[in-house]
Amino acid sequence: MLDQIFTKCNEEWKSSLNQKKHSFRFFNLATSNNNIPELRVVVLRDYDPEKKQFTIYTDSRSQKVLSLENNKNVELLFYNPEKLTQIRVQASCILMIEDNSVFIQQPSASQKDYTTQHAPGTPIESESSVDFLKETHYFLKLVFEATQIEYLQLKRPAHIRALFKKNKSKWVGEFRTP
Ligand SMILES: Cc1cc2nc3c(=O)[nH]c(=O)nc-3n(C[C@H](O)[C@H](O)[C@H](O)COP(=O)(O)O)c2cc1C
Repeated sequence: MLDQIFTKCNEEWKSSLNQKKHSFRFFNLATSNNNIPELRVVVLRDYDPEKKQFTIYTDSRSQKVLSLENNKNVELLFYNPEKLTQIRVQASCILMIEDNSVFIQQPSASQKDYTTQHAPGTPIESESSVDFLKETHYFLKLVFEATQIEYLQLKRPAHIRALFKKNKSKWVGEFRTP
């Protein structure tokens, strides 16, 4: 049963990469900035089931990048509202790379997201006061490697909670009181 849960999590993350409506396509990424938690929604761009590595894309000038430079520890939160399943992943940011080869493969509308003249979060006059750069971009690929995965499914008659931890190179799971 533990193995099945673990395998299912991996399968769901992989499936979410090709299914636009998959509930794991968007997830919450928590960072910490001087002990103040920061949460935001991001898109899962890639997942490596062997290494348990999660990839997102972002703007290198964004607050999350500053926070990650000081503290690589993050939590990722995935939620499936139909199955009432929550997965909390403790992870570490292992790679921040300005990968131009990935950037040029993005649709042009998506590329634009990483080319605002001013850094994300800069105050502007009105909602339309956003200018874009032509030659420069701030595309950044971030990779997070999991160290712990906690699964919780609310269901009757009994909820299911399981914790998986990486012990040396092997993942070991156990059930927990929900
Ligand atoms: C549906 C949705 C998807 C988003 N996907 C991303 C994403 O993949 N990468 C990203 O950097 N920001 C994404 N954002 C914006 C972030 O939630 C956040 O507002 C932004 O990255 C700035 O966060 P920061 O100031 O904490 O760095 C998304 C927002 C929404 C609502």
